[in-house]
Amino acid sequence: MPNNPIQIVLANESDMLVIQQVAKQLDLDCKALSADQFLVAKSDNRILGFGRIRRYADCSEIATVGVVPEVQQKGIGTLLVKALIAKGPAELFVTCVVPDFFNKLGFKLVKQYPAVLQKKVDFCKEYDFTDEQIFVMKFTK
Ligand SMILES: CC(C)(COP(=O)(O)OP(=O)(O)OC[C@H]1O[C@@H](n2cnc3c(N)ncnc32)[C@H](O)[C@@H]1OP(=O)(O)O)[C@@H](O)C(=O)NCCC(=O)NCCS
Repeated sequence: MPNNPIQIVLANESDMLVIQQVAKQLDLDCKALSADQFLVAKSDNRILGFGRIRRYADCSEIATVGVVPEVQQKGIGTLLVKALIAKGPAELFVTCVVPDFFNKLGFKLVKQYPAVLQKKVDFCKEYDFTDEQIFVMKFTK
């Protein structure tokens, strides 16, 4: 764990290369990435994790949440998602393969969801996840 405090801050353009590399390494959604969507967890100016809010015409989703492997399971993902929730609209979806992580943060499973999120479900299937392993969840403030 880093010695210095972890800060959750808005991403800037110079963070995007690392975000893209780590997101790719973790098999996360790398489509249409832009710095203004992201929050990053930093310590000593090193990126430890990130996540974004993607806004669509009829909904918003938390996406591309990743923590660098050496510092996973130390609370950084939780800090990031809480900050994304605070920044985001009253209703936020997530399409994920780690429902327990999001459930602990207050997301609930939904069976019905906006059509645009079906694309995300299909994206997960490209990585050989089955329907039973992919969960669409919703957080309501
Ligand atoms: C999933 C991820 C973002 C979680 O971030 P993290 O910093 O490692 O998680 P935290 O330390 O904040 O964990 C919070 C809680 O969620 C649980 N949790 C974390 N990762 C989990 C996982 N993959 N599956 C199930 N539970 C998980 C933790 O055990 C912890 O539970 P506790 O509070 O009872 O101890 C991170 O592990 C990661 O980047 N994983 C690889 C990429 C990924 O799967 N991203 C999600 C895309 S949908």
